[in-house]
Amino acid sequence: MTTYPPTPEFAADAIAQPGIYEQANQDPQAYWAEQARTRLHWDKEFTEVLDFSDAPTARWFGDGELNAAYNALDRHVEAGHGDRVAIYFEGEPGDSRAYTYKDLLAEVSKAANAFTELGVVQGDRVAVYLPLIPEAIITMLACARLGAIHSVVFGGFSADALRSRVDDGEAKLLITADGSWRRGKPSMLKPAVDEALSAEGHTVETVLVVRRNGEDINWVEGRDRWWHDVVDPASDQHTYQPFNAENPLFVLYTSGTTGKPKGILHTTGGYLTQGVTTFVHSFDIHPEKDVYWCTADVGWITGHSYVAYAPLVAGATQVIYEGTPDTPHRGRWWEIVQKYGVTVLYTAPTAIRTFMKWGEQIPAEYDLSTLRVLGTVGEAINPEAWRWYRDVIGAGTCPIVDTWWQTETGAHMIVPLPGIVATKPGSAQRAVPGINVDVVDEFGEPLEPENPGLLVVREPWPAMARTIWGDHERFKQTYWSRFDGMYFAGDGAKRDEDGDIWLLGRVDDVMNVSGHRLSTTEIESALVAHPLVAEAAVVGAADATTGEAVVAFVIVGEDTGGLDTAAASEELRQHVAKEIGAIARPRNVLIVPELPKTRSGKIMRRLLKDVAEGRDVGETTTLADASVMDEIAAAMQQQ
Ligand code: WTA
Repeated sequence: MTTYPPTPEFAADAIAQPGIYEQANQDPQAYWAEQARTRLHWDKEFTEVLDFSDAPTARWFGDGELNAAYNALDRHVEAGHGDRVAIYFEGEPGDSRAYTYKDLLAEVSKAANAFTELGVVQGDRVAVYLPLIPEAIITMLACARLGAIHSVVFGGFSADALRSRVDDGEAKLLITADGSWRRGKPSMLKPAVDEALSAEGHTVETVLVVRRNGEDINWVEGRDRWWHDVVDPASDQHTYQPFNAENPLFVLYTSGTTGKPKGILHTTGGYLTQGVTTFVHSFDIHPEKDVYWCTADVGWITGHSYVAYAPLVAGATQVIYEGTPDTPHRGRWWEIVQKYGVTVLYTAPTAIRTFMKWGEQIPAEYDLSTLRVLGTVGEAINPEAWRWYRDVIGAGTCPIVDTWWQTETGAHMIVPLPGIVATKPGSAQRAVPGINVDVVDEFGEPLEPENPGLLVVREPWPAMARTIWGDHERFKQTYWSRFDGMYFAGDGAKRDEDGDIWLLGRVDDVMNVSGHRLSTTEIESALVAHPLVAEAAVVGAADATTGEAVVAFVIVGEDTGGLDTAAASEELRQHVAKEIGAIARPRNVLIVPELPKTRSGKIMRRLLKDVAEGRDVGETTTLADASVMDEIAAAMQQQ
């Protein structure tokens, strides 16, 4: 197989040099302790590195004290980098703002003072439902400064999804905006907040509203306050407080195999250590000269670790962009790369495949010569997209850094380090220095090369999730019960003859649509809650652009409300979008007379996947009634 080594110039100047694997893996705890000491400021030095005696809950640097916001801001200003740009913000309508480290510190200090005035103290939960605007990052850092726990809910999620997350975390303060822009039109958030909080019984005392798109919104006196009335006049001086390394930093909800999303809890010291170390190594960040752009929204883990925290803790300069890639034209991203001289771009395979579809003449119109590292995340990148990314965007020379990790891992776990590893299209390749991952069979035994198995992490790592908010038992069950003493990631994987790791997709009921995790069960529950639906089964079907697409098979009840099949399908697609969010809207809802079940009544999703992907249906002998698949195939023909 052709591999792509770094150019000699890149390798010579790279921050992570070849000895790093050996050095780190000889004594991982010593390695992480050194990273923690050198890359972070500790108000109280730690003496203890890892305590895993209460496994699977880990304590990293457990007797140390630090403040995440101080590490992201103040110390860079104190070190004389206050005038370095921290964030270039590009709004969808074309407005832009630049914040230096000094500016950002002033804004975060104001927000911290304002939140304190609103009664927020250490340990309180603050829900965040914002577009990708600087106030989102300011809010997260202001919470961190106070030791409050932020819970960011992606702006694309519905009112119901927002409410369930607000309730689960018992948030006291909710921060939102009137809305933002999507494809040149106002896209609203505040109405969803109003709807979410319309029923009694929630814990939110104040809704703080950023004015972003200026549209008219409903106002609830006594509950709603404008950001510009509360934060802007607050003092820009704020004395931070150090917190224990294990103080919770945030909760972020992610889909699991059951209907209820899991509130993944991350703490401070270990999370920041692994975040900043991997950020610098994976992307070869030289903070004084690089301009980094990660396209992820802060509503996802990538936007937490590699937008809100690591780049700022590293003292780097980054770009954030509010809008869609095709507004006002399909060259918008490349125009942004050119405008800011972006050197490191971090995005998802689904975006790359979209650009491939649009054609290489579009990026060709812009100067992309500043780019030197290209990262991807969210799903395995198919070799064709990998090559296109490298050749068309990266001038045939930029290393492609395929980063495997999860909400639960908090930071990169498998990455080809760009100055060291000869890359292979489609493989994430090597465990991060100091991380011990493996591929095992169903009994937990290591596998020979080329045999597909399950991905596990053998040793605790600094950025690992500490628990599921309010449900520690589920944390143990989901990740730590499958194998004794090892973390079960839920991904299939194999090693090749060189020992490089290839990710093979989820092995559970989690789908990956455009790099976003969706639970089949959660969508099924939304469907069966609709009066039309008697039974539903959802599968992820391969899709050329989004990786997987949601396909639902639905049995409707007697009363179809006068809707014909096409109208009923459309109604159900919209229903899922309303219940969960537009990202969960099924590509197809197929109305079928029966679902294929085993004799014990288990739905055979494998067969439905065959149908959804247009294949001949495989082995059906375990079905209770083999004629069901013929009926489903016939129903498909009619749609
Ligand atoms: C998938 C996103 C292959 C995987 C950071 C994982 C990937 C899930 C990759 C986590 C990759 C993420 N190659 N698969 N480079 N990156 N995944 O929690 O299935 O949103 O378990 O975190 O995405 O998704 P999450």
